[in-house]
Amino acid sequence: MNISGCTAIITGASSGIGAATARALAAKGARVVLIARDQQRLEAVASAIQQSNGQVQIYPADLSDAAAVAAVASTILDGVGAPNILINNAGAGRWLSVLETSAKDVEEMMAVPYFAAFNLTRELLPAMKRRGSGCIVNVTSVASRLTWPGATAYIAARRAMDGFDQGLRLELAGSGIRVMLAMFGSIETAYWANNPGSRERLPRITSLTPTLTEEQVAAAIVSGIEANRRLVLKPSIFRFVLGLNALFPRTTERLMLWGWRPPV
Ligand SMILES: NC(=O)c1ccc[n+]([C@@H]2O[C@H](COP(=O)([O-])OP(=O)(O)OC[C@H]3O[C@@H](n4cnc5c(N)ncnc54)[C@H](OP(=O)(O)O)[C@@H]3O)[C@@H](O)[C@H]2O)c1
Repeated sequence: MNISGCTAIITGASSGIGAATARALAAKGARVVLIARDQQRLEAVASAIQQSNGQVQIYPADLSDAAAVAAVASTILDGVGAPNILINNAGAGRWLSVLETSAKDVEEMMAVPYFAAFNLTRELLPAMKRRGSGCIVNVTSVASRLTWPGATAYIAARRAMDGFDQGLRLELAGSGIRVMLAMFGSIETAYWANNPGSRERLPRITSLTPTLTEEQVAAAIVSGIEANRRLVLKPSIFRFVLGLNALFPRTTERLMLWGWRPPV
């Protein structure tokens, strides 16, 4: 897919992966439409893009609220029309065990990323289908296909993203709209500060895997869109880990439990 001249909506674009992906798409000539809650941080990202001669618009919204999702989608469709690219990236979620997770926590973890991605896609899909081309990218963690202890609600929410991605791909077969899962290991972003206590629960085995920068992740998403991929997975060592998990799940469980101390 040629990105130049496309309109790309990026959620969670006030920070981290979303902001870096917006910069990378704008540098390729896309008009980028940024969504997140924090208007000031969106303005800062937009201003940097404009200074590099990029085309950008911001639409502050809380994507955990289905009514707000419908409202922002309608405003965007009226303002800029159907997107060629939708990047469902907004996400949060602390790494907590089942006993540490309240009913409110688990609802919030499903609300963003999963409900947000589902609801925004549904709102934009009729207009995208009328165009008959485009790409929807669902950003997630390797937690979509791997499990470690002490982050159960987070992992379940990322599994939901994987199911959404796969179901959507089949529903859109023949529509001209491609669906890509962008799945990553650990990335150095504000995520760790925004979701306290999570970094401490990275499985010990991840000390053997490289940590990515947000620029590396953005470049991987952009090249995945350009190459019409269905899956982007970085760092590449996770291809081996996912293969190991499929063939020898007990071995992977033991690796994930290595060094784990259950909370008291
Ligand atoms: N960092 C990692 O190691 C890593 C690895 C793999 C996957 N991921 C996934 O990638 C996604 C982005 O993570 P990141 O590392 O870029 O984290 P981040 O820097 O914390 O960014 C999260 C983004 O989501 C937005 N957001 C959160 N709640 C929202 C809501 N209710 N409505 C609208 N926007 C909302 C935030 O903006 P506002 O606060 O302004 O709303 C922010 O722009 C997450 O789903 C994360 O799980 C991260």
